[in-house]
Amino acid sequence: MARTSLGSANVNDTQLGFGIDIGGSGMKAAIVDLTTGELVSDRFRIDTPQPATPDAMAEVLCELIAHHEWSGPLGVAFPAVVRQGVVGSAANIDKSWIDVDADALFSAASGCDVHMLNDADAAGIAEMQFGVGALADGSPRPGVVMMLTFGTGIGSGLFVDGVLVPNTELGHLELDGYDAESKASAKAREREELSWKDWASRVEHYLSHVEALFSPDLFIVGGGASKKPDKWLPYIDIATPVLPAEMANNSGIVGAALAAHDRP
Ligand code: BGC
Repeated sequence: MARTSLGSANVNDTQLGFGIDIGGSGMKAAIVDLTTGELVSDRFRIDTPQPATPDAMAEVLCELIAHHEWSGPLGVAFPAVVRQGVVGSAANIDKSWIDVDADALFSAASGCDVHMLNDADAAGIAEMQFGVGALADGSPRPGVVMMLTFGTGIGSGLFVDGVLVPNTELGHLELDGYDAESKASAKAREREELSWKDWASRVEHYLSHVEALFSPDLFIVGGGASKKPDKWLPYIDIATPVLPAEMANNSGIVGAALAAHDRP
């Protein structure tokens, strides 16, 4: 059977979905087994076009879909506030995205039913279902779980008894008079050439602030910095448990695919 006819279909009990993760430097896509959270295709990447305008990105999106010969619903993880498919912020992306109905634009360009959501929300959805946020029986951890991604910015995904509260944007909390992500993102560590220990002390300060505001039961830390948790997590000393994300590079793709499939 041609892959194009498999879009989000049940084939031998395997339910397939498709996710795209958009970042500042790359747009990555893969076919996902929605029952296990595993990628069942290659993870195909194309450089993010510069300037990263909506129309230029729509073209790349179509190339990613064509590469995987996908048809059917698909999800897109995007580094911004996204309300009902409409982009509402542009901290680290091209400002021309503000107010664009991404679902409408990408659906019209691709002929697929496209559902966009915030990147940290997508990463959290994947972790809560298949990663460190899932219990042994597969159910999401109860209580308040806060996913935080440390990359170019700081993204946040808030879960209450497994249910996402979307678009929390806690990377932009004001801390000591600064936008928190400008001091504690992974990019800030690189830009200022901080040691892991010095950067960890900023992250700890930031986590303590979020802890005081939300009293979560668990922090899950993801993004680029979660690939090397041994370098900095041992320096973090707060009351709330902090666990590194497990799905690393794939969480945006997997979470986006799940969100598109589960959408009402
Ligand atoms: C954006 C968020 C995004 C985060 C991580 C922040 O600058 O405002 O929407 O989730 O970066 O990419």
